[in-house]
Amino acid sequence: MFDYYIAPSILSADFARLGEEVSTVLAAGADIVHFDVMDNHYVPNLTIGPLVCEALRKHGISAEIDVHLMVKPVDRIIPDFAKAGATYITFHPEASEHVDRTLQLIRDCGCKSGLVFNPATPLHYLDYVMDKIDMILLMSVNPGFGGQSFIPATLDKLKLARERIKQSGRPIRLEVDGGVKVDNIRQIAEAGADTFVAGSAIFNTPNYQETIAKMRAELAK
Ligand code: DX5
Ligand code: ZN
Repeated sequence: MFDYYIAPSILSADFARLGEEVSTVLAAGADIVHFDVMDNHYVPNLTIGPLVCEALRKHGISAEIDVHLMVKPVDRIIPDFAKAGATYITFHPEASEHVDRTLQLIRDCGCKSGLVFNPATPLHYLDYVMDKIDMILLMSVNPGFGGQSFIPATLDKLKLARERIKQSGRPIRLEVDGGVKVDNIRQIAEAGADTFVAGSAIFNTPNYQETIAKMRAELAK
């Protein structure tokens, strides 16, 4: 049995009250904060940057922050996020000219590193860099927006990614992002995920604690 992490995506939080929202969702039982960075270039939406990450740290958020970079180019923003208090920094390999170098840069900045795979991106980007990866993030929607439906083909891909992690013998987290809900989280866990990003499924409900408890009950089944 894995140590499951629930990772609320703050994309669906009320940005006007972000510090309070993050404190509330952590008190409600979340394990790690999923922080979506979009640049209106690599993806068709624009969100938040290192200043907001730093502001959350200043607000007293001490939980791990999982920064999901949907930006191109990738490298120049990495030191800023490291300084701002990111724990994990993950990026899309198509957005980096030099994937190995970017992974090394994240590590050199003192953060944990990871690659993100869009629904149609093959896993072969993992082939020569497994030793430089702490997290694999499989997108189960096309990146850019919260509130989309889970793409079922992700389940087979999760199984393949889990197999790769087993073969590596390394403690790499396997995260899934997009369309995760109370009613599909168990199936997603059975396919091999151990870290579950959920935005709308948590922040669009009135009681975060109740929703996270329902997710954990599904995972414990
Ligand atoms: C999409 C983002 C996701 C998104 C998930 O590009 O990476 O983290 O916010 O939202 P839900 O859980 O609503 O699908
Ligand atoms: Zn994300």
